[in-house]
Amino acid sequence: MRTQVVIIGAGPAGLLLGRLLDNQGIDTIILERRSQDYVLGRIRAGVLEQGTVELLDKAGAGERMRAKGLVHDGVEFCFDGDRHRFNFRELIGRTVMVYGQTEVTHDLMNARDASGAKTIYEAEGVSLHGFDSDSPKVRFGKGGVEHEIACDFIAGCDGYHGVSRASVPQDALRTYERVYPFGWLGILVDKPPVSDELIYAHHQRGFALCSMRSPTRSRYYVQVPADEKVEAWSDARFWDELRRRVDSETAEKLIIGPSIEKSIAPLRSFVAEPLRFGRLFLAGDAAHIVPPTGAKGLNLAASDVDCLAEAMTEFYRERSSVGIDHYSARVLSRVWKAERFSWWMTSILHTFPETDTFGRRIQRAEFDYLVGSEAAARSLAENYTGLPF
Ligand code: APR
Ligand code: PHB
Repeated sequence: MRTQVVIIGAGPAGLLLGRLLDNQGIDTIILERRSQDYVLGRIRAGVLEQGTVELLDKAGAGERMRAKGLVHDGVEFCFDGDRHRFNFRELIGRTVMVYGQTEVTHDLMNARDASGAKTIYEAEGVSLHGFDSDSPKVRFGKGGVEHEIACDFIAGCDGYHGVSRASVPQDALRTYERVYPFGWLGILVDKPPVSDELIYAHHQRGFALCSMRSPTRSRYYVQVPADEKVEAWSDARFWDELRRRVDSETAEKLIIGPSIEKSIAPLRSFVAEPLRFGRLFLAGDAAHIVPPTGAKGLNLAASDVDCLAEAMTEFYRERSSVGIDHYSARVLSRVWKAERFSWWMTSILHTFPETDTFGRRIQRAEFDYLVGSEAAARSLAENYTGLPF
């Protein structure tokens, strides 16, 4: 087999890259370890920056999102029961779209199927070869048969635990990491959300988030210790804890019901540098992880692959390697700003085991500053709705 670009991973990064390249007439094969149903069954975040929305439109995969997604003008922060709304539209004229990652994945898969581009699911033992030369190869197994694909480029879009980053020689890679001492326990419930917009809550007992997937489906989270077991959390315990962490008006308005999904996600900040090794490029979670507090994971994956698709297009159209030579530095400068924002939101909204009374006062001062200063609120709005691609 031969193709121009082998994409490893059919998450949002791989599928969107495939779509953007397909639109430019560049041939791709996506290799995905899991089945299509498994990929579609993963529940993940659901806030799209304005730039991501525009990119999905540009990719020709935005129709269902425009019909079903919810445009949000702002978010609310609640600090020890004091609630404040940040109106992004008024502050900076930008908004976000609430539309689940599962839906984005679904739309991109359908667009790819319609275009006839090839995706191989349940590809086993994917391995990368010769990406330090001009003729890289990718090998994999499928149904007991070994295959090899020759290509011009490999795009590692295979997430944090993927094979791509692991294939790079250790001494060629630098990594930066912070692991937080807590996770998010999340539930999905088929009941209307408590509020029209997201509520991010700080409380002495820990962080909480009221989010949604649609007007009839809600997503809620509470901060729990990193080693917590999901079995320890009945629905009743979850609702009790959530009510205690939000303001009393929100607590009273909560419409509860049986959870249809319940899981714990750890929080981590991680960046690998650089993101290019000869003919191999890393994008999305394979390259970096953010804690979910700023809702940046999916959006960063989108801005990475926008840049990568542009660089590869330039390579084929203009026989120029300027774009691919600058890919790593260009992407990393935006990545680090999103890392900073996600870390900052995580720091002010969570309780940390080591935080003393001084630290709590500083967190409160951050909240009061955001509420009282338009400059501070605009900075929040600019970062939350997304820095320029
Ligand atoms: N071979 C083939 N596929 C692989 C391999 C492998 N060795 N390892 C992992 N994969 C696949 C995974 O099964 C997954 O479908 O790569 C895909 C990576 O997808 P994601 O983890 O969704 O990562 P990405 O596409 O970068 O999307 C980033 O997704 O994880 C969230 O919070 C993250 O919202 C962010 C977004
Ligand atoms: C979600 O709805 O899952 C969600 C929303 C906002 C976040 C994180 C997760 O910051």
